[in-house]
Amino acid sequence: MVCSSSSSASGGRRRSPHVVLAGLLLLIASSSCLFAAAEAKRNVITHIKGFEGPLPFHLETGYVEVDEEHGAQLFYYFIESERNPAEDPLLLWITGGPGCSALSGLLFEIGPLKFDVAGYTEGFPRLVYFEDSWTKVANVIFLDAPVGTGFSYSREDAGLNVSLTGSGRQHHTFLRKWLAEHPEFASNPLYIGGDSYSGYTVPVTALDIATNSNQDDPKLNLAGYMVGNAATDDRYDSGGKVPFMHGMGSSPTSSTRRRAWDAAAIFTRSPTRATRSAPTR
Ligand SMILES: *[C@@H]1O[C@H](CO)[C@@H](O)[C@H](O)[C@H]1NC(C)=O
Repeated sequence: MVCSSSSSASGGRRRSPHVVLAGLLLLIASSSCLFAAAEAKRNVITHIKGFEGPLPFHLETGYVEVDEEHGAQLFYYFIESERNPAEDPLLLWITGGPGCSALSGLLFEIGPLKFDVAGYTEGFPRLVYFEDSWTKVANVIFLDAPVGTGFSYSREDAGLNVSLTGSGRQHHTFLRKWLAEHPEFASNPLYIGGDSYSGYTVPVTALDIATNSNQDDPKLNLAGYMVGNAATDDRYDSGGKVPFMHGMGSSPTSSTRRRAWDAAAIFTRSPTRATRSAPTR
């Protein structure tokens, strides 16, 4: 229609047939591309520095905005399952710290690449494929979170000031938007996982999804969450080492145990927790 009206225009400037033809081709091209638009936007990485040849798995990276007011963006590495991406679980992996790059989760924990430490001599480190990766059986999103971690950033400084529950909300927002862009993973069982400091952020993320995902489209198919060597509460994480050592065969007197428990309490971050009375057993 655009073409016929412009070619029938009389008295006005005549368009060269080449321009009309180019416009027509553009229209055809753009309508056939619409279908693949979501996929075309994806930033698929086939080669990375340090790894020889093409990556033997599907890697995609990108940003998702989680705070429109301050322009906060979370960066992710997404690696598809090498088994059956359509049915295998989708795992959001949040590394600890807070502030450890998602790369540490990818290269040192559960991802399919490792540094070639034994073979290192000098120069840029070599990366090698790691067989025992979780990405053999799961689709994994390694997330630079909270904002300010790794490549995640905020346009305004105020966007860096995120509470614990606020970060859970942002991770939920991340997944909601990410799944809108990757609808083929919306029905896969969704797990939230992480280690260390993520003992705080993983449960609040799962809780936010469990309580607030009813309006999500697509609804998030939360199946569970997991935490490894999780931080939960400084006082009991550190103080708990004393009864643990006792149970493992070390047998300090009860007053030594009591003093050790109190010493552990000194390292708590919250003064109100440090002054809470120690258990007497
Ligand atoms: C961070 O946010 C909290 C809660 O909104 C606020 O009380 C605090 O002043 C903020 N801190 C900074 C440094 O802006």
